Formats: sequence, C-alpha cells, structure tokens
Amino acid sequence: MSQARFEGIDFSEFDVVEMNPDLENLGQGFKCLRNDFATYIKGRKIRLECKSLTSKCWIIEHDEKIAGYITLMADKLTTEYRLLENEGVEYRTFPAVKIGWLAADKRAKGAGRRLLEWALEYVTTDLINRVGVRFVTVDALHDPDTGYDIASYYARFGFKHVDPTESITPKCNFRTMYFDIKTVVEELNALRRTRLI
Ligand SMILES: CC(C)(COP(=O)(O)OP(=O)(O)OC[C@H]1O[C@@H](n2cnc3c(N)ncnc32)[C@H](O)[C@@H]1OP(=O)(O)O)[C@@H](O)C(=O)NCCC(=O)NCCS
Repeated sequence: MSQARFEGIDFSEFDVVEMNPDLENLGQGFKCLRNDFATYIKGRKIRLECKSLTSKCWIIEHDEKIAGYITLMADKLTTEYRLLENEGVEYRTFPAVKIGWLAADKRAKGAGRRLLEWALEYVTTDLINRVGVRFVTVDALHDPDTGYDIASYYARFGFKHVDPTESITPKCNFRTMYFDIKTVVEELNALRRTRLI
C-alpha cells in the first residue's frame, strides 16, 4: 500500500530551498486549506513575480512534492506610533521585510511553522548583515465571508498588530502585523555572551 503524501513526516528541521520559477508542474498536487494558496503556487503569477524580482519564494520539498512555501519581499512598516522612540528614533516609517504568501499543504503538518521560523531566522541572522531592516511584516488574512482569521497564528510567534484597535471586520481582508527583529538579535547576542551557542 502506498504511503499517503507527507504522512508521518517531521518537517521541523527540513531544508528550506529557493524555488526555481522555471520548474514545470510547479506545485502539482499541492492541497491547501485555502484554495487561493494552492492556485497561486501552481499559476503564472508567482513565476512572473519571482522573475521580475518583486518577490522571492522558498519551499520545503519531500519526494519532489512541495510541502509548503513562503514568499518574502522588501517592505516598509508605516504606523501612527513612534515605535522606536525609546531608542531615540523618531520615525513612523521603518525598513521591513514582508511575508507575502505562506502556505502548507494540508497533509504536511508543521511545514508552515518550519517556513515561518526559517524566515525569521534568515532575516535575523543573514539579511540584517546586508541591509537595514528592523521588522518582519505580514498582512494577516481575515476573510469575513468564512470567518477565516490567521492573526492568532502569527501572534503565537510574537507578531503584534500595527493597529491594536483595528476592527475584527476590516474593510480590507487583512490586518497588518509586525515582528521586531531586534528582540531576537538581542537574545541571540546574550546567548553568545554566555557561550551557550
Ligand atoms: C497557516 C498555515 C501555513 C499553518 O501551517 P501548518 O504547517 O499547517 O501548521 P503549523 O505547524 O505551522 O501550526 C499548527 C498550529 O497552528 C494552528 N493554526 C492553523 N491555522 C490557524 C489559524 N487560521 N488561526 C490560528 N491558529 C491556526 C493549528 O491549530 C495548530 O495549532 P496546535 O499547534 O496547537 O495544534 C496553514 O494552515 C495554511 O497554509 N493555511 C492557509 C494559508 C494561510 O492562511 N496562510 C497565511 C496567510 S497570511
């Protein structure tokens, strides 16, 4: 009997690799809780966005099947609050990296977590050495028609709402959230100082 796709696989330490937009049959068989996320990985749009350098996509694969994907792009976080006032920074606009699309195959439990943790680590340990970036942002999907809301998922990882008073039924179908990279950088530095890593 053939094993069901991704059955019993622990994705927590899987490699995350850059997607090749020239691959044929990209995302074939990918099934997601939300169809729009399955359609996107199979369609032309993601390929065009990667080729035009407006987005970059990384994937987790098993047996040449995509278990999950994430896209990242440059962003700016604009708020009405001076988020870094206590650091002497008066701006209300900050350099950021945005999570564009994040999806796991519905049979690949844990692939979403692996991708999100990988992205936060990538920005925190790699990107910040190359370009100024303080926050990771995401437009957390809220679908008033179905009640689907992903904000609490991101909150578990430490993301906060840009506008904590924003209505639960926003005019648009998302609420922007942000993750402060510096807190992680400081924790890593503290660990290094105690020679634990
Ligand atoms: C969100 C998503 C990427 C999570 O990936 P995953 O590999 O299935 O799940 P993870 O291992 O990362 O996380 C599982 C946990 O998240 C929780 N979770 C899943 N969807 C959630 C939601 N919409 N709101 C809150 N929690 C959610 C699960 O209940 C589970 O909780 P548990 O650990 O207590 O059992 C995946 O469900 C998905 O592709 N969803 C559709 C696309 C989507 O919404 N993407 C984000 C758009 S901004």
